[in-house]
Amino acid sequence: MCGIIAYIGKQKAVPILLEGLKQLEYRGYDSAGISVIQNEKIITLKAVGKVVELQNKIGAQDFLGKIGIAHTRWATHGKPSDRNSHPHGDCESNIFLVHNGIIENYQDLKKILQKKKHKFVSETDSEVLAHLIEEFNKKPASTRGDASSTRGGLDFKKSVLEALKLVRGTYGLAIINKNEPDKIIIARNGSPLILGIGKDEFIVASDASAIVRHTDKVIYLDDGEMAQISADGFEISNIKNKIVSKEISKLNWTLEESKKGGFPHFMLKEIFEQPEVIANGLRGRVEHFLSEDNFPILGGLRPIEKKLRRIKKIIIVACGTSYYSGLVGEYMLEEYAGIPTEVEYASEFRYRKPILDSSTAVVAISQSGETADTLAAIREAKNKGALTLGIVNVVGSTIARETDAGTHTLSGPEIGVASTKAFTTQLVVLVLWTLMLGRQRDMSSVMSKRIAQELKNMPKLIEGILKKSKEIKKIAKKYSYAKDFLYLGRKYNFPIALEGALKIKEISYVHAEGYATGEMKHGPIALIEENFPSIFICPKDSVYEKNISGMQEIKARGGKIIAIATTGDKEIARIADDVIYIPKTLEMLTPFISVIPLQLFAYYFGVAKGYDVDKPRNLAKSVTVE
Ligand code: AGP
Ligand code: GLU
Repeated sequence: MCGIIAYIGKQKAVPILLEGLKQLEYRGYDSAGISVIQNEKIITLKAVGKVVELQNKIGAQDFLGKIGIAHTRWATHGKPSDRNSHPHGDCESNIFLVHNGIIENYQDLKKILQKKKHKFVSETDSEVLAHLIEEFNKKPASTRGDASSTRGGLDFKKSVLEALKLVRGTYGLAIINKNEPDKIIIARNGSPLILGIGKDEFIVASDASAIVRHTDKVIYLDDGEMAQISADGFEISNIKNKIVSKEISKLNWTLEESKKGGFPHFMLKEIFEQPEVIANGLRGRVEHFLSEDNFPILGGLRPIEKKLRRIKKIIIVACGTSYYSGLVGEYMLEEYAGIPTEVEYASEFRYRKPILDSSTAVVAISQSGETADTLAAIREAKNKGALTLGIVNVVGSTIARETDAGTHTLSGPEIGVASTKAFTTQLVVLVLWTLMLGRQRDMSSVMSKRIAQELKNMPKLIEGILKKSKEIKKIAKKYSYAKDFLYLGRKYNFPIALEGALKIKEISYVHAEGYATGEMKHGPIALIEENFPSIFICPKDSVYEKNISGMQEIKARGGKIIAIATTGDKEIARIADDVIYIPKTLEMLTPFISVIPLQLFAYYFGVAKGYDVDKPRNLAKSVTVE
């Protein structure tokens, strides 16, 4: 996935690039690197590990260059090491580039280039691009074989264009050239790239968090587009070298919103932000369902209102936590809107032969809006003629732009790699969609009002649970000996069991399994012994008794139990070893509040073990590779 940033303007580039890299670090932190043009030379520095390592390497050195590119890496090809770190250069150290994505045909290209005597220093796919551009750019044109229609001596931009024609795969690229030192060339295909327009300066980055400090004016590059940027202007063109005119958008995130706000970690801050962001997601939307408005429609879906009435089937495609919110959505949409709904891992959907027609809506759920698998699934659905919809957080992201219509989750920037507030705001949109689609069908207005009314209470109920964070911290410490956990729930809380298990796996590196309580006796119960605790999500709902039976089965085998239960439930306290109480609400809305103790439990468990919970090992926030 990687984060890339580039600067050209009147200020020293290095401090700006370093600061931007820190904002982008959640996208990968295997290594970081920077190249700056100074005194007609390109200076490149790299360090394995987090951005701070690069910063330490730079130390007090003062670089005066005003043009530069930088990268924070999440390795796909070649292990994290100095030589595999970006920026990558050509043979003559004239051309340097940073790359986000995967060049799928890099081995073929590398062989051709090696025959032409190019020397490679890394194992990455990205380096191939630098040499390929060099091949077109270098003079004089020597013996060029079929490798393609390579012709030496093209100018920088044309060389990039020609090189990109030979490439198969995904890229977000920023490239500099010592021989044309007054410009940066950027290009996009499948990996996000935003051009920030400042006063006499331009900042390019993989996402807005690295730009917002400098300007709120941005252009979102689309696939197949590139730009040539100099200190006094830019020109955007497509891969066929045709000038493209683009709209300038305004960023809606403040710098403050991207910072930790006094919390020790982004994850904790984001957990505590949930009442506020849920209220944001409801504002101006939930009111429709509380008024006498008969068939309310959310703004982003208005243009396709008629199509929505004709939908006979919904397929939700997503990954990870977003997939689990989709599973909750499946229960809601089937039970209250009466629409058959399936939820699929986007990575599987894209390679299946899904049966879709114009009465199927394929819904992508994604925090980042850039997840490669989800994007590919939505493109596949589009090709097959389905209506594509998005439930996306990041405004201007690729999925948000490529779907036919959708609703933003409005949770603000989520920086912690473990998704928390993005999940609950996805649930908000799923409830609103259930109400809207339900009202278009058989749901009574009394029912929709009842649900909408209770939905409005979620921020208050969550605040109450957040006040119990000390109690949850204590329980997390008490179980810190555990190396395995079983998370169990039924119906609406089955996906929450999956989400709870994913959360603790991600940030605490303990083994955890999420299971449907009823399925536990078909296998996982064999794992149970004294040191293998189970976490039961067991509110007083329609499956309460069934959950209690499951709990007894574990108890009978000596397993320890932590229960998430409804306030006032005394029976459960007699069976479970520890109970975390949550308030009573409608069954379909319990996931909003049952997930909060599990987020906190995972957070405190990870912190107690001394891990960097915001940047868990081997992960990255936004998975823009397959
Ligand atoms: C959640 O904690 C994970 N980090 C991950 O599973 C994430 O939800 C998944 O990669 C999907 O991301 P998206 O919502 O940005 O598409
Ligand atoms: N393929 C490149 C590398 O491994 C970039 C990886 C990415 O964008 O995640 O360095």
